Amino acid sequence: MGQLSGKVAIVTGASTGMGRAIAVTLAREGAWVAAVARSADKLAETVAAAREASGEIAPYPADVADHERVRAIVADVVGQRGRVDILVNNAGTNTFHRNLADTSLAEWRQVLDTNLTGAYFFTREVLPHMRAAGRGTIVNITSGAGLRPSAPAGVAYSASKHALQSLTGSINAEERRHGIRACAIAPGETDTPNLDLRPLPPPREDRERALSPQDIANAVLWVAAQPPHVAVELVVIGPTRQRNYQADYERYVAAGHTAKRQD
Ligand SMILES: NC(=O)c1ccc[n+]([C@@H]2O[C@H](COP(=O)([O-])OP(=O)(O)OC[C@H]3O[C@@H](n4cnc5c(N)ncnc54)[C@H](OP(=O)(O)O)[C@@H]3O)[C@@H](O)[C@H]2O)c1
Repeated sequence: MGQLSGKVAIVTGASTGMGRAIAVTLAREGAWVAAVARSADKLAETVAAAREASGEIAPYPADVADHERVRAIVADVVGQRGRVDILVNNAGTNTFHRNLADTSLAEWRQVLDTNLTGAYFFTREVLPHMRAAGRGTIVNITSGAGLRPSAPAGVAYSASKHALQSLTGSINAEERRHGIRACAIAPGETDTPNLDLRPLPPPREDRERALSPQDIANAVLWVAAQPPHVAVELVVIGPTRQRNYQADYERYVAAGHTAKRQD
């Protein structure tokens, strides 16, 4: 029997990277998983990977910033399975511009809408069902840039992840009396397609030293499988060998990547 047998989970951003590894790992451990992301094709690959591991995943193509769609997904999951035990707010994005002077309003909104507002929508929709059950686990994938602002990660990204860290604390402050616990998992550099969004993606040898998506999935599983009276509130996890991120930023500046303002 798996560690999560009989549980129902929703994982956002499950089409690639960490989200796919998280969804497949929870499914492999016996949870029924609703996998959310915009790309239906890539979600189908996540479903196939779970099937190979004898796990069950249902794909829900959606933009997490679309409130009506989020409502419909949670209603459908509860209609089909009767509950939501685990929510993993993992969907996240970043933009080309990283510095304050050049980040456009559209870029700012895209990052905040995806990384923060999407998590707010899903959390609000699952709360009544978790309260009714008297338990629930919410895992928010934040970042090292959510603990201290990071120039290479960018101003919008750092702000979104700090806010997601704060949302995690608010959930614990308000909802633990209902048996609901929230955890922020703050990964360092992890080898996923997210790194390709950087103006200067790290070289292959550096990516090989980074964390793997499975490292993060293992952390999510560990948090979600704790007995109901245990609340793990923060996991900070990074590669043992760290890159010099400030040097990355200096390279962006030297390459002229801070001078392409698009309003
Ligand atoms: N990689 C790192 O070094 C690192 C470090 C710390 C934290 N993180 C965080 O880890 C999380 C997962 O990222 P990753 O590294 O695994 O990168 P990734 O492979 O690029 O995954 C991002 C996921 O989010 C989904 N997504 C993006 N915008 C979305 C939207 N508007 N609605 C629904 N889904 C959306 C993407 O799917 P679609 O494009 O199909 O929608 C994809 O499944 C993110 O929150 C990221 O900020 C990453």
